[in-house]
Amino acid sequence: MEILVTGGCGFIGSNFIGFILKNREDARVINIDKLTYAGNLANLFDVVREYAPSRYRFIRGDICDKGTVQNIFREFDIDWVVNFAAESHVDRSIDEPAEFLQTNVFGTFCLLEAAREFWLDPSSDLTKKRFLHISSDEVYGSLNDTGYFTETTPYNPSSPYSASKAASDHLVYAYYRTYSMPTIITNSSNNYGPYQFPEKLIPLMINNAIKGKRLPVYGDGKNVRDWLYVVDNCSAILVVLERGLPGQKYNIGANYEKQNIDIVTMICDHLDKRLGLIEGKPRRELIEYVPDRLGHDRRYAIDASKVKNELHWQPSVTFEKGIVETMEWYLENMDWVEDIETGRYREH
Ligand SMILES: NC(=O)c1ccc[n+]([C@@H]2O[C@H](COP(=O)([O-])OP(=O)(O)OC[C@H]3O[C@@H](n4cnc5c(N)ncnc54)[C@H](O)[C@@H]3O)[C@@H](O)[C@H]2O)c1
Repeated sequence: MEILVTGGCGFIGSNFIGFILKNREDARVINIDKLTYAGNLANLFDVVREYAPSRYRFIRGDICDKGTVQNIFREFDIDWVVNFAAESHVDRSIDEPAEFLQTNVFGTFCLLEAAREFWLDPSSDLTKKRFLHISSDEVYGSLNDTGYFTETTPYNPSSPYSASKAASDHLVYAYYRTYSMPTIITNSSNNYGPYQFPEKLIPLMINNAIKGKRLPVYGDGKNVRDWLYVVDNCSAILVVLERGLPGQKYNIGANYEKQNIDIVTMICDHLDKRLGLIEGKPRRELIEYVPDRLGHDRRYAIDASKVKNELHWQPSVTFEKGIVETMEWYLENMDWVEDIETGRYREH
């Protein structure tokens, strides 16, 4: 089983590579990553130690580079493509949208084209192939206080990031409809856990709170996200690859809706207990409300009943357990964070 993982040096991709190599002994992973600021080879040091070179290969490359992607399909008999590679930070997409369109849309197109060229060859057994595109619940837009996103909720993206993900989802589905390519899409809610780049809400707050730095919270802090522990997303992705049907999309979520401010106070209170107060003061005093993000979606909430009922997937980690494990991971891996803060991680 040869699996092409794109963006495997990022947060979810690196967790997924460790997960699949552990859980599928027949799997060999080829990881193509451009190593943008979000890609970190240190995320895979354990994987390299345990599995390279027989079951893990790294190729530094850009999914927008057609020749590189074609060479991978030529060299390996790729069974599954799992496309994590993306520009993924909404704030950055508001400041500089161009790279989001390039990687998220054009890069996905290049992968689809290479898969079409090599998989639609008459000698290739298409029944074994899967092209899984990893997408987001943000494509559905914003909810009010009630309701959930289902797989049939119309797309209504708000940011350049979510619009680029929506565009790539449409393209992936079009390749199923037009060419009968075995494509599948997962739309997951917000992930958290080990190896998340410390610009995203949870790792940013954990790291700032550990160090006693200010904790910037957008708007009134009441935006709601539906949190999913990254390992649960990895198990869902594997279930979808093994049992999901071509042409389908699956929402992945664990039903842990939280307001941003509640997450931040939870982190503050846990770290106060774990590390003691900061100069005699509770960490909640570090919270600082800042002007809201442009176009900030109010609430996301996933209805994951399709993947639960049809593919028998269940999340296994409660938010209360996952957030404590995540805080412990960052406490134990402060050198990983420091390498990012100093820029040393770029030298790996
Ligand atoms: N993090 C979340 O909460 C979340 C939720 C839902 C969906 N997603 C989706 O999951 C995927 C992974 O998200 P993440 O949080 O791990 O992202 P990330 O930003 O941590 O990692 C992205 C990786 O892709 C690589 N990359 C970027 N452009 C590339 C290119 N042109 N060619 C090759 N590699 C490239 C980067 O170097 C990095 O290693 C993304 O597609 C994202 O849209 C993320």
